[in-house]
Amino acid sequence: MSQFNDRTLTEQVLESFANTPDPRRKTLITELVLSLHEFVRKTNLTFEEWDFAIDFLTRTGQKCTATRQEFILLSDVLGVSMLVDAVNHRSRDDATETTVLGPFYVGEHKPMPHGIDISVGIPGKPMFVNARVTSLNEPLANVPVDVWHADDEGFYDSQKPSYETQGASLRARFITDSDGQFSFRTILPCSYPIPTDGPVGQLLAATNRHPMRPAHVHFLVNAPGFEPLITHVFVEGDEYLNSDAVFGVKDELVSKVERHDDPIMPDGSRASEPWYAMSYEFRVRRGSGHVPQPLMAVAAE
Ligand code: BEZ
Ligand code: FE
Repeated sequence: MSQFNDRTLTEQVLESFANTPDPRRKTLITELVLSLHEFVRKTNLTFEEWDFAIDFLTRTGQKCTATRQEFILLSDVLGVSMLVDAVNHRSRDDATETTVLGPFYVGEHKPMPHGIDISVGIPGKPMFVNARVTSLNEPLANVPVDVWHADDEGFYDSQKPSYETQGASLRARFITDSDGQFSFRTILPCSYPIPTDGPVGQLLAATNRHPMRPAHVHFLVNAPGFEPLITHVFVEGDEYLNSDAVFGVKDELVSKVERHDDPIMPDGSRASEPWYAMSYEFRVRRGSGHVPQPLMAVAAE
């Protein structure tokens, strides 16, 4: 029979994993045990607090569905998603900075023609996006780029009940032309709250944190032979750029979105109100990398 104190217990638990055959798995479980045990010791965690933590994690799992991933949200608000991103992108060479994928990437469909309006029927201020994909200053042709963003009330199409019947809006796939370019019409994105109707929302409320993300458009550039680029372009001047609920803002991803008052918009239509223009160059670098599975594809497996 063994009897442990709060230090020797840690050694015994580590010893119990000593025969883990895979070295990386062994490192991960060892470091996890060390960090968890240190947390319990440092905080003198009470039984009530541990019960609360287990109930919180249980409710987090119970909130997950085919279209809702509360654990990703938890990882995002704890800064873990951005930390994993940071340790995997320590050197960028000249490539564009990366940021969180977020829970609203659903995988893309067939490529759309350049210049198309991806916001048909959605209220908002018109915005034209002109973007280019390059590597080492050379344009990259025939590259698929997925784009998605929220409406002017802060909702993604996949969050709405109408998604099942009406399909995609404010999201599309484009293929770059011979000059690495693609363009589309949409609406100016606005800042929006991440979902707060679950345990993660309760965590934010209990810690006096706001749930807002600054206005942005998501881009995923996935060129064969190049590192996948998962990023956003943020709208300069947004009031939440310095307090993003998921810590995803990087300076070089903030872009001036210019207001125009010209009577004719870039797609040739007549402007009844000011319109906006976003342009950005995405620089990718040779290599490979992890492209996360879209949520609904994972759920369907
Ligand atoms: C998003 O930008 O879509 C997002 C990212 C992290 C958590 C929630 C939403
Ligand atoms: Fe987003």
